Amino acid sequence: MKSNTYGHGHGRIVAVGGLAVGLALLLYAPSLRVVSGALLLVAAVHVAGAVVVLGSVRALWSGRPGHAARVARRAGATETFQFGWTPGWMNGLWMAGLVLATGAVVVVVAAPAWWPLAFGLLLLGAGQVAGSRFLRKGLRADHVVLPMVDVVRGDRARILDAGCGTGRTTIALGRILRGGSIVALDRFDAGYIEGGGRDLLAHNLRVAGLTDQVEIRTGDVTALPFPERSFDAATSAHMIDHLPGPARVRALEELRRVLVPGGRLLMVVWVPSWEMAATFNVLALLFLTSRRRWRELATGAGFRVVDEGVVNGAWFVVLERPDGRADEVAAGPRA
Ligand SMILES: C[S@@+](CC[C@H](N)C(=O)[O-])C[C@H]1O[C@@H](n2cnc3c(N)ncnc32)[C@H](O)[C@@H]1O
Repeated sequence: MKSNTYGHGHGRIVAVGGLAVGLALLLYAPSLRVVSGALLLVAAVHVAGAVVVLGSVRALWSGRPGHAARVARRAGATETFQFGWTPGWMNGLWMAGLVLATGAVVVVVAAPAWWPLAFGLLLLGAGQVAGSRFLRKGLRADHVVLPMVDVVRGDRARILDAGCGTGRTTIALGRILRGGSIVALDRFDAGYIEGGGRDLLAHNLRVAGLTDQVEIRTGDVTALPFPERSFDAATSAHMIDHLPGPARVRALEELRRVLVPGGRLLMVVWVPSWEMAATFNVLALLFLTSRRRWRELATGAGFRVVDEGVVNGAWFVVLERPDGRADEVAAGPRA
C-alpha cells in the first residue's frame, strides 16, 4: 500500500520549485540575485523542514518504545492515552524555526545589507515555534476536538469516523454517544503516526472504555467497504484535506453514499487562516484549499451545507445528505 503523506507535501513542492526557479534565475538573470538568493534560501529551509518532518528524525527516534506516551505526558495528557504522533511531526516545526533563525543570523553576518530578508526569516521562524506550541495542545486527551454541533440524532445512531487515526475523534464521539455504535475506519498507513495507528487506536479505545462500542475497520475512504445508507452520521477530522484533489471528490461522494438520507457528516479540515500561517508558515495560505472550494466540492458531491465554524484553529462544516423525498418535492412531480 502506498505510504500516506499527501498532506505533508507542500514542503517538497516549495523546496523543488524554489531550487529550480532560484537556480534558473541565478543562471539566466544574474542581476536579480536578491530574488534568486531569497528563493534558494527559502527552498533550502524547506528541504531541511521536509527532511525533518517527513521522517529522517523519525527513523532515529521511532524505535524508542513509549516515546509518544512521554510526549503526551509532558503535554499534560492523561498518561495512558497514546496518540502516536512521531517526533519528526511534533518537533519538525520548532526545528524549522531554528533553521530559519540560523539563516537569519547567517544573512546578517554575511550580507548585512540584506537585513530585511533576515528579518523576514526571523519572523517566519517565530511563527514556526509558535505553531509547534499550538500543535502540541491537540495532544491533550481531554482537549475538545469536535465542535458541539447537531450531527448525531437519536440515542441509537450508527456513526462512521472516517480517517480515525489513533482515535482522538472516535473517543470524543464515544463520550457524547449514549447508545449506538461507532465504526472507526482508517488505512492505518500514515508515516507520521507510530506504527500506522491501528494498535494505538485499540489501546486508546480500551483506556476510554469504548472497546465494545467501537468496531475498528481497515479501509480506504475513497472506496468504503459498506453498502449504501449504512450510517446515521459520520465524522472526518483532518483527513480529507490529506488526500489529493480527485480523491477528495471521491471521498465525499463515498461518505454521502453510506449516509442515510438526512444523515450528516461533520468534516474538519485546515483552511487558509492566520492560525495556519502561524502553525506552518505563510505559504500555507497559498497551498491550503479555501473554504469556498470545500463548499463547492461538498455540494458537487451531493451534500447540503447546514453549519460551519472554527474549531481548534481548523474549519468545520456540517454537511447533510438531502432527504430523497425532499429532493423530489423540490424538483416537482416526475412525468
Ligand atoms: C491527521 S490524521 C487524523 C486522525 C484523527 N481523525 C484525528 O483527528 O486525530 C489523518 C488520518 O487519515 C488517515 N487517512 C488518510 N488517507 C486515508 C484514506 N484514503 N482512507 C482512510 N484513511 C485515510 C490517515 O491514515 C490518518 O490516520
